[in-house]
Amino acid sequence: MVKVAVFVLAIICVVITAEKVSYEGYKVYQLYPSDEQQLAVIISFTSFNSIDFWSEPRMLGKPTTVMVPPNLQEIFVATLEGAHINYKILIDNVERVNNAEKERQSTHARSAPGKISFTEYQRYDTIQEYLSELAANYPDIVSVEEIGTSYEGRGISMIKIGAGSSDNPIILVDGGIHAREWISPAFVTYLIQELVENEDNRNMIESTNWLIIPVLNPDGYEYTHTSARLWRKTRSPGLLCTGVDGNRNFDFHWMETGASALQCSDTFAGSAPFSESETSALRDVVLAYGDQIKLYLTFHSYGNYLLYPWGYTSELPEDADVLDALAVDVEAAIASVAGTRYTIGSSTNVLYAAAGGSDDWVKGIGGVALSYTIELPGGGIWGFDLPAARILPVSLETFEGVKIYQRYVADNF
Ligand code: ARG
Ligand code: ZN
Repeated sequence: MVKVAVFVLAIICVVITAEKVSYEGYKVYQLYPSDEQQLAVIISFTSFNSIDFWSEPRMLGKPTTVMVPPNLQEIFVATLEGAHINYKILIDNVERVNNAEKERQSTHARSAPGKISFTEYQRYDTIQEYLSELAANYPDIVSVEEIGTSYEGRGISMIKIGAGSSDNPIILVDGGIHAREWISPAFVTYLIQELVENEDNRNMIESTNWLIIPVLNPDGYEYTHTSARLWRKTRSPGLLCTGVDGNRNFDFHWMETGASALQCSDTFAGSAPFSESETSALRDVVLAYGDQIKLYLTFHSYGNYLLYPWGYTSELPEDADVLDALAVDVEAAIASVAGTRYTIGSSTNVLYAAAGGSDDWVKGIGGVALSYTIELPGGGIWGFDLPAARILPVSLETFEGVKIYQRYVADNF
């Protein structure tokens, strides 16, 4: 009897541990809540692990995009219809689109040595090589350091850039904490190129120093290239499911809100704060450089948001007016290029409450007053797969915003 039970349990474990890399039969819905009650119904779906919200069920008047696995579609649609929520099916079978997309991305070109191209999304190795080449070609202003090792053993690289005093105020930038948000490492790599290789931007590295981590979650990033385009988390194994949401894993009001204790959830906060080597690596950089860091920018996608703390409470930090005013200037600079508009506000107030984010920790514990999450524009089929042709236009306009940030730091510290 006991033997049989153990055997059955073992089988069940094997079945649920098996990695899900297929999105066969998954559908993507766009929902249009028209009042608070309908919004509440939609928000209630966030308690289902396997329902993946691609955009936030927060704002009335803005559609919410959500991916639903086959087994929940019937109840999902029945609930929508019961509550008279307008919806449409955006993608009928995610796996089919996934395959087509993979084909389109597989022809990634390698540019000339020492150069990197922004007409394709680059793999981790290519970005690593580019950083090494910069370190070799610009030894006076660039050095590259490994700040940690990912779960699967990839180096997490940080490039240090500066052409002025080593005492200059520091701007800390990261990208790619969420694996599927490809425009984030792409833009951050573009930023590195502009700072190092474009003479016109010399003043940006003479008056401030930069610490830039283009791919904070390399395992996840590679996994989105090889196996599952929509992977978000790290790749550290758990008993039931793989991965931790890096942006719920920081030790500041950890797990208090908007984070999951369930391993299989896309917003799993981890077994403990800083359970992940990737998040610990960023923590250690902040602790090492201390209050020389004056500004922290973490790039995500998508949704066009300039977010400042807090994500754990709807209360605002004391210096919210400073954070807001600077964001207003940055937004205007971005918009001046091609009219792209961003929403500005505290994470909780304009998006939703989610504790354990890097931005909150860097400000709350790291003591960096100016801390922002930038949600770059979406596009493509899922929002996370902005066509490669959009990398440059988005990077150009976003860089104008970063210039404003840089000038502020240079002028005020
Ligand atoms: N989309 C990001 C996330 O869900 C937003 C993070 C904003 N910051 C925060 N501390 N909640 O991780
Ligand atoms: Zn993200």
